[in-house]
Amino acid sequence: MSETIENEMKLNWEEEINTMNKTSDNNNHASSGGASGIESLEMGAARIQVDDKKIINCRADLNQLVPFKYEWAWKKYLDACANHWMPNEINMAADLALWNDPNGLTEDERIIIKRNLGFFSTADSLVANNLVLAVYKHITNPECRQYLLRQAFEEALHTHSYQHIIQSLGLDEAEVFNMYRELPAVAKKAAWALPFTQSLADPNFKTGTPEMDQRLLRDLIAFYVVFEGIFFYVGFTQILSMGRRNKMTGTSEQFQYILRDESMHMNFGIDVINQIKIENPHTWTESFKQEIIVMIREAVEMEYQYAKDTMPRGILGMNAAMFEEYLHFIANRRCAQIGLPEQYPGAENPFPWMSEMMDLKKEKNFFETRVIEYQTGGTLNWDDE
Ligand SMILES: [Fe+2]
Ligand SMILES: [Fe+2]
Repeated sequence: MSETIENEMKLNWEEEINTMNKTSDNNNHASSGGASGIESLEMGAARIQVDDKKIINCRADLNQLVPFKYEWAWKKYLDACANHWMPNEINMAADLALWNDPNGLTEDERIIIKRNLGFFSTADSLVANNLVLAVYKHITNPECRQYLLRQAFEEALHTHSYQHIIQSLGLDEAEVFNMYRELPAVAKKAAWALPFTQSLADPNFKTGTPEMDQRLLRDLIAFYVVFEGIFFYVGFTQILSMGRRNKMTGTSEQFQYILRDESMHMNFGIDVINQIKIENPHTWTESFKQEIIVMIREAVEMEYQYAKDTMPRGILGMNAAMFEEYLHFIANRRCAQIGLPEQYPGAENPFPWMSEMMDLKKEKNFFETRVIEYQTGGTLNWDDE
């Protein structure tokens, strides 16, 4: 990344988090944290009771999945497995033909496709890294961890999906994957999110004090509510609206599967955030709430800027102003979901069809275009040779 972009990226969070890291060094001895799951075995230890379980700072053994305490987490794990899909099952031939047809797409449409692939091709890697390198260790509940492992795999599938689209269209892979280090419009959101992961990945970080528990909450809100819950939505809407107009239908179908997964990730994250709040009400202070409101409002501005950067002129019956309204509508919902007041009174949804896209899991024919049916047992063939 050029120095200029680097400097532009110096957003408020980086400095604030650096200050927090320093404070945590001082508090380190006072913090206890919970179990990690890699403690040495304690022979003869008592069996696990439901009441032993806590979502953070739990000291009970984390390697025993049952008895379940958080049924919602286990249910989401099962639902996610039932939604399994693979990117290479989706036929990309029509997209390639359209992409190669000089009159197939306008220059504006090509910009939208390339910039979104640029953003998303690395974004899911950032989410996966946040899960496995920062969040997982501090969520001290096996059924939630089970979902986190499934989500981590889905993030790998999403990166696979973007790679598959980029390869199918014959795009310059290096150009697209490196876009988050070349193009400020694509870089900004990634650069905003990284300090939150860095904050928890700090080897000295432990939960167990109100301040450190807030730091975990801050990361969860940054990734589940903002990154997956706001920063994905302009790009998803742009690509899916092309699909609705019969353009880039394979790409759009890939995005549809991804959107379905992402909406579940976000809902899981919101359940985790709310569960942490219930068990640790002291973390949800007035000043912390204000900080989160500022974060969400800042995210809305950034995503609106992304809409303008990817869509300088209105296309497909959409324009940047409609996205502003849409982002206000979404941000209101996100605020309500985590118990904060709505920030944009009266905002309405200019893209009601997006909600239908997310509800597709209820429709039987969603899998119609799939070429492979997943088998559920008794189908392994061992090669004896
Ligand atoms: Fe993803
Ligand atoms: Fe995700």
